[in-house]
Amino acid sequence: MSVKKQTRASENADPHELHNPVPRVLLGVIAALVVWAVYYIFASSPNSLPALGDQRDPSVLAASAEGDNQAIDGRQIFTAACQACHQATGQGVPGVFPPLAGSEWVTGDPDVLARIVLHGMTGPITVSGSTYNGAMPAFGTQFDDAELAALLTFIRGEWGNGGSPVDADMVGATRKATQAQTQPWAGEDALRMQAAPASSG
Ligand code: HEC
Repeated sequence: MSVKKQTRASENADPHELHNPVPRVLLGVIAALVVWAVYYIFASSPNSLPALGDQRDPSVLAASAEGDNQAIDGRQIFTAACQACHQATGQGVPGVFPPLAGSEWVTGDPDVLARIVLHGMTGPITVSGSTYNGAMPAFGTQFDDAELAALLTFIRGEWGNGGSPVDADMVGATRKATQAQTQPWAGEDALRMQAAPASSG
């Protein structure tokens, strides 16, 4: 028994593929993609760790981890340790707590600034033309060099202050140079007298 295929004239014709070329625009896009992909492979650096997903290599990351203070938030340290007296605005409290905003001590010689924060101070100090005579606590034991560097960098750049950043090595050098200092500095005269010979101010 065999099945005979029958076609009748009234039946629709068998579908057949039309001769429709792929649109040129689409071909162009595909070609561009291929060219870009090949370019991308050759242009990306094979040395970098794929997990990093960018052009940084491990040595750069290691240097930034120990070198600067990106990981430490100077503003956060300020809020926790300084703001109660010097205020969030950096304006201090007139006659009681001197301002950090616009203070020549903050934007001036970073070595002197580090001395103040490392060891604290008591006695007269003139800030922006007003004299204060209070007690500034020491923070040298509470924060390490990198934390203090981040903090000082923050107050030197905040509130319109135009001081340069401070790095941990600089704080470390001041800490070492003043390690004999066990009491807060006795007023601005003591600070000035003790200023490191290497620094200009
Ligand atoms: C308990 C209040 C208090 C706290 C907390 C405090 N300070 Fe002070 N600070 C003072 C007083 C008071 C003076 C003025 C000291 C004097 O008269 O000898 C001063 C002076 C200063 C000065 C020098 C004068 C000036 O205004 O520029 C700097 C800089 C400074 N403080 C930074 C800081 C930083 C940074 C912190 C946080 C780590 C901090 N202080 C935390 C009370 C405080």
